[in-house]
Amino acid sequence: MKITVLMDNYTYIDQYYLGEPAAAYLLNTGEKSILLDTGYSAVTLENAGRMGIDLSKVTDVVISHGHNDHTGGLLPFLAAHPGNVNIHLHPDALLKKRCDGLDVGIPFDPAALPCHAKLCLSNVPKEIAPNVLFLGEIPRVNPLEAPAVGETDRCGVFEPDFLLDDTALAITTADGLFILTGCSHAGICNMVQYASALTGESRIAGILGGLHLFDCNEQAAFVTERLLALGVKTLYPCHCTSLAVKTMLAQHFDVKEVGVGFTLTV
Ligand SMILES: [Fe+2]
Ligand SMILES: [Fe+2]
Repeated sequence: MKITVLMDNYTYIDQYYLGEPAAAYLLNTGEKSILLDTGYSAVTLENAGRMGIDLSKVTDVVISHGHNDHTGGLLPFLAAHPGNVNIHLHPDALLKKRCDGLDVGIPFDPAALPCHAKLCLSNVPKEIAPNVLFLGEIPRVNPLEAPAVGETDRCGVFEPDFLLDDTALAITTADGLFILTGCSHAGICNMVQYASALTGESRIAGILGGLHLFDCNEQAAFVTERLLALGVKTLYPCHCTSLAVKTMLAQHFDVKEVGVGFTLTV
C-alpha cells in the first residue's frame, strides 16, 4: 500500500507543492484510493494535481476528527469529483467546535453535502478496505495523553472538547500495524493499543501523522516511554508535532522527516 502526503505544514526545498497548517493523506491499497482528511482548503486538490494524482479514483474519505484543518478541503474535493464517495466519520465530528474564540469545527453545514457523498457515521471500528481499519472511538486508557482542546457544543452548551470523534486508520502490513493518524487528540498510545487489541497484531511497523505534542512535558515523556514499551521503532511525526518534540523523540526512535509530497510504501 502506498501513502502520499497531500497536505502538511511542511514543504520540501525544490518541490513546488503548497503547505497549510493542515493534514491530508492519500492511501492507495492497490484496489482502492482512500483519503484520510482533506486539509484546510482546496489547496489539497492543487497539490494532488501538481503530483499528477487523479483524486477521481477516491471512493472513501475518512475524517480523523471534525477540526477545520482536516475537513476544510472536503467540499472543494466533492465539488471537483462528482463520483460516489463514502465519508466515514464519528458522529461527534459534526458538532460545533471552537478554540480561543474561533470556530474550528467542520466549516460547512453537513446537510449541504452534495448527494453523491454518503455520510457513514460510526463510533465503532469498521474495515474500509482489506487490511485497512477505521478505528472509531478510541478508548482513553491513558487519559494523560488525551486532554481537552477547545470546546464543543453537544447539547446547546459549550463544554471542554475531549474530541471523542478523533480516530485513525490501522493498516495491517507484513511488518505489523502501520498507524495513519490526523492529530492524535485521542492519544497516540491509546490508538496503538486499541488497534493492537482489535487486530491481535502487537508489532507496530510505524506511525505517520500529527501527534499533537508541542512541549517536552509530562505528556510527551509518557508518550515516549509508552511507545518504546509498545515496541515502536519508526515514527513519521508531522502536522501538529513541534520540532522540540521531534528532537526529543529522535533520541529514542528512528524519526523520519515528513512534508507535502512524501510517499511511503507500507
Ligand atoms: Fe485537531
Ligand atoms: Fe490538526
